[in-house]
Amino acid sequence: MEVKNICCIGAGYVGGPTMSVIAQQCPHITVTIVDINAERIAAWNDSDLSRLPVYEPGLAEVVAEARGRNLFFSTDVDGAIAGADMVFISVNTPTKTYGKGKGMAADLKYIELCARQIAAAATSDKIIVEKSTLPVRTAEALKSILHNTGNGVSFHILSNPEFLAEGTAIQDLHRPDRVLIGGENAEAVQALVDIYATWVPRERVLTTNLWSSELSKLTANAFLAQRVSSINAISELCERTGANVDEVARAIGTDSRIGPKFLKASVGFGGSCFQKDILNLVYIARSYGLEEVAHYWEQVISMNDHQKQRFADNIVQTLYNTVSGKKIAFLGWAFKKDTNDTRESAAIYVADALLNEEANIIVYDPKVSAEQVYADLDYLGTRAPKENRRLVSVVDDPYDAAERAHAIAVLTEWDEFRDYDWQRIKDHMMKPAFVFDGRKLLADNRLADLGFTYYAIGE
Ligand code: NAD
Ligand code: UDX
Repeated sequence: MEVKNICCIGAGYVGGPTMSVIAQQCPHITVTIVDINAERIAAWNDSDLSRLPVYEPGLAEVVAEARGRNLFFSTDVDGAIAGADMVFISVNTPTKTYGKGKGMAADLKYIELCARQIAAAATSDKIIVEKSTLPVRTAEALKSILHNTGNGVSFHILSNPEFLAEGTAIQDLHRPDRVLIGGENAEAVQALVDIYATWVPRERVLTTNLWSSELSKLTANAFLAQRVSSINAISELCERTGANVDEVARAIGTDSRIGPKFLKASVGFGGSCFQKDILNLVYIARSYGLEEVAHYWEQVISMNDHQKQRFADNIVQTLYNTVSGKKIAFLGWAFKKDTNDTRESAAIYVADALLNEEANIIVYDPKVSAEQVYADLDYLGTRAPKENRRLVSVVDDPYDAAERAHAIAVLTEWDEFRDYDWQRIKDHMMKPAFVFDGRKLLADNRLADLGFTYYAIGE
């Protein structure tokens, strides 16, 4: 099976970068990315590449190379499906907010809509690829919908979960640790292997059965998040005992069985994946009656919630047990550096806890808009939107954020924060000038030497 036309449904943080790289690496394949969100598609088509809807280092260059050549962004979902040999489903699979499994299970309504739309629009045989992260055995449901449409075309379903991390998406896609493809039909699997083998060494393309592939994605995210919660649990112990969590991480990370990556203590992990995927894993385990398994993974989330809460509590306690009416400057709102994505960012929850104490928060993030900050807080529903706007302001100059602030909280590890003129910042703050570093970004004694009262996670 030779694939000449690819359609990808969903032009988000995964569909956009992933398909752009496939198009860049495979000029012989036409790739059309479609989305029902017309504004998003217009932004992907914007001639000003700084206005792409996803900020990722290196992405604009890839889009510039392939767009208009063999990479297209469109709202014509049916047309793109009909013309494709292979259809990737890369739509969102958020945690359910209603009904059975509310707050735990993945909401598969967008996936089912895609399947029904593919079934209705297809006039020739197609390979359907699950790119979204899905509960194990979702392919079974997809099969059932696709095979019962009655228009005589046949579908092969593959699972091809995406392992890119935001902020490093392009390098992860160019040089993946592995590509995972699960499927039953050998020819369909080979067709997708051939696409990746254009630029990924063949030994890095792993093939498994469908269910192993689906489950491996949830498992990978659960293991990664577990490492962060494990080191964050130790960070609290470090704060009580005089140990330094970075030193502990270095000491254990040199053990080749543990390894050095993903051991950075922080204010808590965020992002659209970790929490959602672990909750989903817990839900699945529980649905099979595996209470101990469910409980085990649930602790990763509990520890993360605790880490965010205790960061906020420490600010309140240190500021003489009241932050009411005090200005707290937030450096960073994104869930990690080098992305404009704020989904589940620790900053949102720390802000919410401080707003409950009537703090005034002033936010600076190099890539996040004021509109997004307010949308994130409003989404929590803790207080009226008007109240969020009264208590929170967003500025585009970090020195303005620090002006007359009682404290600075570092929520995201943006590199530029290191290079600020911290003397100038201190001069304009209230005294004592407190810094709460949720990323251990400035933990080199520099701030203490300048006379800040400096607190870092795990010190
Ligand atoms: P996203 O919300 O950024 O993008 C999803 C897009 O799908 C949206 O633009 C939405 O409008 C579109 N969409 C939804 N239903 C549609 C339909 N019926 N037809 C056309 N378009 C439709 O989400 P994302 O971050 O790209 O994640 C997509 C999937 O990839 C999720 O399952 C996620 O778990 C998984 N994933 C995400 C990451 C990550 O870093 N963000 C990494 C690996 C895997
Ligand atoms: C994650 C997975 O890494 C990726 O493989 C998957 O495809 C999607 O989910 P992402 O959420 O984009 O990627 O970023 P990641 O680098 O994993 O960071 C997630 C969160 O954990 C961030 O808030 C980050 O700051 C935090 N983190 C990560 C730590 O606090 N410490 C670490 O050592 C690593």
